[in-house]
Amino acid sequence: MELQVLPLEQSRPRPQNESNLTFGKQFTDRMFVMDYLTGRGWHNARIQPYGPFVLDPAAMVLHYAQEIFEGLKAFRRPDGKIALFRPMDNMRRFNRSASRMCMPEVEEEFLLHAIKELIRLEANWVPRAEGTSLYIRPTMIASEPMLGVRPADQYLCYVILCPVGTYYKGGLAPVKIWISDHYVRAAHGGTGEVKTGGNYAASLLAAREAAAKGYDQVLWLDAKEKRHVEEVGSMNMCFLFDGKLLTSPLHGTILDGITRRSVLTLAHEMGLKVEERALTVEEIFDGAERGLLTEAFGTGTAVVISPVGQFTYRDRTVKLGDGQTTGPFTQRLYDTLTGIQYGRLPDPHDWVELL
Ligand code: COI
Repeated sequence: MELQVLPLEQSRPRPQNESNLTFGKQFTDRMFVMDYLTGRGWHNARIQPYGPFVLDPAAMVLHYAQEIFEGLKAFRRPDGKIALFRPMDNMRRFNRSASRMCMPEVEEEFLLHAIKELIRLEANWVPRAEGTSLYIRPTMIASEPMLGVRPADQYLCYVILCPVGTYYKGGLAPVKIWISDHYVRAAHGGTGEVKTGGNYAASLLAAREAAAKGYDQVLWLDAKEKRHVEEVGSMNMCFLFDGKLLTSPLHGTILDGITRRSVLTLAHEMGLKVEERALTVEEIFDGAERGLLTEAFGTGTAVVISPVGQFTYRDRTVKLGDGQTTGPFTQRLYDTLTGIQYGRLPDPHDWVELL
């Protein structure tokens, strides 16, 4: 498919202070868009000025939430070059999400090519300040106007870009996690492993209640027994437990995180035994009290690696260390992963793609 580049008449305001970027609030000058129609396939691929869409009020995404998205980042390296981190993994996951949500798959190579072209045009939006990056958000929505419940026949796929700093306001400061014993995020057979907006919408009430109690995030337990750790909505969870790195297995209810995958590889190379098994709530509390659980952190494209300082479940609270200091292993993983992403360290796995 041909990729058209439409003229840009006016630039958008640039961030005033790169070291103070808020996650997801400011967008670049241009975006990528393509259309889909059953019988015609994907067509009209173009890079156009960033701006609102005209959507019919009956557009199916607005009623039945047929929507998927991805998140990946471009990093500015010390030599000024721009690097993407494992972008093909995101393209593949986008298509897995599409097929679960009865949406049309995209041609992975073409979408990645379009993203690279878009970033080349927007290169001066890739920030340079320490810890910043350009967050890339591929999205697909059902745009057909129709109120019957069935897969749509018309879609929009688009990619927007925003220069970002850290996801949490506190940066790498350990977060306080509330473990929900009431709400659940996903059950077997549902859409927990899909990057679809509905999963996030369903998590908002619990997140709001957690925030009102002073917590940063909600940790979800399995829907059946409400005992086993699943994930935090914006990140997968890892635990340094009895000298091993434990993380919940991918059995359909949690996201197959690309940062999670990378961290498991790095931890293994650092000589740690890695086990994909779900910790129980009792293990978190007893383990922390007995000194078996020494560190915990979340992983995700947006958060990168986010240390956990404290867990609360019902009336029980446990701190890891002093609750405020990033553990040495978490810090080492963070330094290694970001070192590879920003080009400060070698990339033995070929995870990085230079533009
Ligand atoms: C990401 O890490 O890229 C995500 O999509 C999580 C989102 C909650 C920001």
